[in-house]
Order: sequence, then C-alpha cells, then structure tokens
Amino acid sequence: MAYAINDYSKLSLLVIVTIASCTNLNNNVSFVQEMAHNLGKTMRAVGFYKYLPITDPNSLIDLEVSIPKVQINEVLIQVKAISVNPIDTKVRAPKPIIEVVPKILGFDGAGIVVEKGENAKLFNVGDEVFFTGDLRKNGSNAEYVALDEILVGKKPKNLTFEEAAAMPLTTVTAYESLYDRLGITNEHKDKTLLIINSAGGVGSAATQLAKQLGLKVIGTASRTETVAFTLRHGADVVFNHTTDLLPQLEANGYGSGVHYILVNYDPYPYWDTLMKAIKPQGKICLIVDSSGLVDLRPLKDKSVTLVSEMMSTRIKYNTEDKFRHHEILQIVSKMLDDGSLKSTLTRTMTPINAANLKEAHKLIENKHLLGKIVLSGF
Ligand SMILES: *[C@@H]1O[C@H](CO)[C@@H](O)[C@H](O)[C@H]1NC(C)=O
Ligand SMILES: *[C@@H]1O[C@H](CO)[C@@H](O)[C@H](O)[C@H]1NC(C)=O
Ligand SMILES: *[C@@H]1O[C@H](CO)[C@@H](O)[C@H](O)[C@H]1NC(C)=O
Ligand SMILES: *[C@@H]1O[C@H](CO)[C@@H](O)[C@H](O)[C@H]1NC(C)=O
Repeated sequence: MAYAINDYSKLSLLVIVTIASCTNLNNNVSFVQEMAHNLGKTMRAVGFYKYLPITDPNSLIDLEVSIPKVQINEVLIQVKAISVNPIDTKVRAPKPIIEVVPKILGFDGAGIVVEKGENAKLFNVGDEVFFTGDLRKNGSNAEYVALDEILVGKKPKNLTFEEAAAMPLTTVTAYESLYDRLGITNEHKDKTLLIINSAGGVGSAATQLAKQLGLKVIGTASRTETVAFTLRHGADVVFNHTTDLLPQLEANGYGSGVHYILVNYDPYPYWDTLMKAIKPQGKICLIVDSSGLVDLRPLKDKSVTLVSEMMSTRIKYNTEDKFRHHEILQIVSKMLDDGSLKSTLTRTMTPINAANLKEAHKLIENKHLLGKIVLSGF
C-alpha cells in the first residue's frame, strides 16, 4: 500500500475521492476524511524525547509522526485499544539521556491488520488481532504499530478491543512462567502455588491459569479490594503481604511449604521468606528485577530450582523456539473466547492521548491498581 504525500493534502483527497466514487460510496464526507486520515503519511502517537518524572508536562507528549513501514515479517496494525504495564513506566523512568527521535512506548494492545510484509503469512488484512510488543521498537501508543507477526494473535471474538488489549503481555508472561519456566503441567494438579502479589496484571492471569491446571493457589494482597479481586480469579486463599507470610502459611496448613512460588514483585524484601516457604525440590520463578543482591546459598540444601521469566527474551535473542510466543497468544485467545480465562480489565480511559497516558503511568507508579488499565480510541 502506498501512502499519499500528506494528510488531507490535495493529492491524497484526490486519490480518496476517486476511490470513494469508484466504489459508489456517494462521496460521504466523513468516510472520505476517515480514509484520508488512514492513508495519510502521518499518524497520532504519544511519545517522548526526555526521560522525565511523570509529573513533568514533557514526560509524555502528543506527537504527529510517520506511520511505520512494515518489514518483511511484520504486519501493520491499526490500534484500537492499548494497555499500560509496569514495563512502560520502567522504560520511561527518569535518566539523563535525550533521544533525537521520539520514543513511543506500548507493549500491549488490540487492533486490525491493515497491511502486511511479503513474508508475513499468519494474518490477512482486516483480521482483528491482539498483540504484545518489542522493546527495541516503537510501540502501540500510536494509531498504527508495525510488529513481527509472531508477536500477534487472533483477537478473542467474544471480547471487546478493550477487554482483549488488557491481556496479551500479562497472560503471555504468566503462561511462560507456569508452563515454560516452572514446567507445570496437568500432572502437577493438587500441588500448591504461592503467588506473591496476585492482584496485579500478571498475578490475576497466573491465578486463573494455575486454577485451570488444577493447582491449589495461595495469593497475596494487602487491601480489601485486591483480596476480593484475587479470590474472584479463583485463588483458594489470600494472605496479607504487608505482614510476615510464614505464620500465615503455618496457620493455614502450609507449614511444610509450597511446591511453587511465582514472585510478581521485587524479590529482595521477600528473599528469606521465599527460602523458608519453598518445599524441598520446589521451584521459584522471578519476574521482577531484584533491588538488591540476594544469597543463593540456601537453595542447595533443599535442591530448590530458581528460574526467571522475561517475556521479551525469545524475541530479543531470536531463540529457536520464538514461534512459541505466537502459539501462546493463540491458546490464550481461545481460552478467553471459551470463558476459561476472563479479561482482567478494570478501568478504561478514552481517548489514547498524552493526558490519559500520564494518568495511567501515575496509577502504575503509585502501585494503586488492581487488574489492568486500558486506553482506547484516538
Ligand atoms: C458515512 O461513512 C461513515 C464511515 O463509514 C459512516 O459511519 C456514516 O454512517 C456514513 N454516513 C452516511 C450519511 O452514509
Ligand atoms: C520511532 O518513531 C519515531 C517517529 O516516527 C522515529 O523517528 C523513530 O525512528 C522510531 N524509532 C524506532 C526505534 O523505530
Ligand atoms: C493487611 O495488613 C495491614 C497491616 O497490618 C493492614 O493495615 C491491612 O488492613 C491488612 N489488609 C487486609 C485486607 O486485611
Ligand atoms: C463466545 O461465548 C459464547 C457464550 O459464552 C460461546 O457459546 C461461544 O462459543 C463463544 N465464541 C467463541 C468463538 O468461542
């Protein structure tokens, strides 16, 4: 597809009017304007040049930038809804670097395929999709995003774009943690999984997936509403992580420890608890950077396995099994459609612009969220 020289330029309007009249669309003005915008060379986006505190007006700004060009393995997606994750705030966090070209965040979303590269074969133009993102590239906080097609899955039909946009990043992370890193299968049903911080995006997806696998799930949260949220996603019991977890485990019959622990939080303050709460031969999965050095020595006595999960590893290192990313999105899409997995969307803001994105980043930085926050429309 070739883009016209400029939005609403005489040339592009001429092209559009011709297309419209050729296809008998009665010169409908709003249709023509919409098409002119879509085919225009530029798009709206939210990005930044400087890494600033979110309270700074320039931390995220409204931009008009070029529509990205699709590479051979990519699809170009018209973005309908995006969700915001801690990774967005971590990348944007203040540092003394100035970008010469704007950086556009967003590693989660849903939309429609509008163009594809010559080697892209998983989707057709017009397909409704949901997707994660690539840390090395511009993301979904824009009207269009170009992504390797393995980062894309079929949008669950039964979900709105907003409900769908809430799910890819967290659910792929949770799925990889449980299946690929901890190696949990259906044969492990009735084993116990402790999820530290179970009311966030990854926690609430992991709780649902673990219940699907038949595990006993122990969540942790600290507020009445986050406890209720975790129970709603199927956790068997929720402990209060602002107080020592060990006595709570003991008092509820888990004194001999748990088989698996998924740590959706800085592991540093929890380290001693993790070392004590894990059963002999148990497995611990970390998904958040540790804020300090931890002592690995206690692992050996109980033959404990420590694994890590980073959703972008397969993509960043171009691993042989990177297609698994797409497969997981497809599995998750089916589970969301048949109701075995529920969207964890809790808040939607409209439209996608710098003001709303700043608000969303603030909510994430203040850690006062449960479930997922989504922005939709331009
Ligand atoms: C014009 O086109 C737009 C976009 O396709 C559509 O929503 C609208 O109903 C159309 N209006 C008329 C009068 O046909
Ligand atoms: C991101 O988008 C901006 C604006 O179009 C562009 O200048 C920049 O090169 C893009 N960055 C990457 C990594 O593609
Ligand atoms: C968790 O414990 C803290 C500190 O003791 C307390 O303030 C809070 O109300 C507790 N949360 C719940 C849901 O009981
Ligand atoms: C959508 O949900 C309905 C009712 O829950 C279900 O019968 C249907 O099979 C679902 N659609 C898909 C594509 O799974």
